[in-house]
Amino acid sequence: MTIKTTAAIGGGVIGGAWAARFVLNGLDCKIFDPHPEAERIVGEVMANAERAFEMLTDAPKPKRGTLTFVDSIEEAVEHADLIQESVPERLELKQKVHMQIDASAPEMALIGSSTSGLLPTDIQVKMMNPDRLFVAHPYNPVYLLPLVEIVGGAQTTEETISRAHEAYEQIGMKPITIRKEIDAFVGDRLLEAVWREALWLIKDDVCTTEELDNIMRYSFGMRWAQMGLFETYRIAGGEAGMRHFIEQFGPTMSLPWTKLMNVPELDDALIDKIADQSDAQSGMHSIRELEQIRDENLVGIMHVLAKGHGGKGWGSGKLLKEYEERLKSQAANDA
Ligand SMILES: NC(=O)c1ccc[n+]([C@@H]2O[C@H](COP(=O)([O-])OP(=O)(O)OC[C@H]3O[C@@H](n4cnc5c(N)ncnc54)[C@H](O)[C@@H]3O)[C@@H](O)[C@H]2O)c1
Repeated sequence: MTIKTTAAIGGGVIGGAWAARFVLNGLDCKIFDPHPEAERIVGEVMANAERAFEMLTDAPKPKRGTLTFVDSIEEAVEHADLIQESVPERLELKQKVHMQIDASAPEMALIGSSTSGLLPTDIQVKMMNPDRLFVAHPYNPVYLLPLVEIVGGAQTTEETISRAHEAYEQIGMKPITIRKEIDAFVGDRLLEAVWREALWLIKDDVCTTEELDNIMRYSFGMRWAQMGLFETYRIAGGEAGMRHFIEQFGPTMSLPWTKLMNVPELDDALIDKIADQSDAQSGMHSIRELEQIRDENLVGIMHVLAKGHGGKGWGSGKLLKEYEERLKSQAANDA
């Protein structure tokens, strides 16, 4: 089923960016957010998204969808093919909001939750039609980064998961279904481990926030944008590949180098230290300015990757090329 109409429930950092992705891909979107300044906040996200989309591709853009602010969840969802919930990360709130969505959404509507780590089984328990609820966990900025982790709950059907894939592919994304329902899925599990180590390194005065960021972005951060962990380590094993890599570095895991599950206490002293170092590192730029620098860099990376692998495209760049081909053929069909 081709998605035509969408609803965004919650219009913060993530909900606003979902709305932007929908509208820029030609889908109408009704958005509900009770925040008194929701229109201004979404407007600013939309402006950044338009700027990024302009830079991203020269292919003929779809005719923009409409964005309409409405006064209730019911009004937002009543004619929507795809509903994206992005309200704050509290289980009781998500359960309540999904009961409201469920009561008014069309029978065939797909209902995705942007939750960063809550289980879909828990979110769907109070719904009358829980089979159409799944997690669709995106990455910020949603209007540029293509990945969406799809996670079904105990009551989600296979058909819903397969229709969700088609829906997110339609808007240029890369859906990946997570094979087991676990807290925080795959991406946030990895990110939490890195974040936990980073907190220790700052707390123990091993490095500053700026030094830590530099250590990432001048080295493995560059690798991760194009090959990820396993392909990178396969190369690191030399001609003998992955087996040799594991033989060589596996034993260091038992030292261990890392603090494993210990989480440093986020007391005032540690929060002040991180916030002060972060101000010294980046306080000369506004958040909007940083967002724009980030977006330019992300677009640049995707452009380079689109030329990768001898012009065939690689990773997110290959996906961009395929997306552009689709936009071109759609424009040719419409002409
Ligand atoms: N920020 C991230 O990087 C990120 C990334 C991926 C997923 N997420 C997830 O996305 C969700 C939203 O996060 P965010 O960062 O956009 O938070 P946010 O605080 O920026 O936005 C949440 C919005 O929801 C609105 N809201 C509150 N109650 C509502 C209701 N009953 N109906 C409609 N809107 C309501 C708030 O007014 C606010 O504008 C969370 O589940 C979060 O875990 C966040």
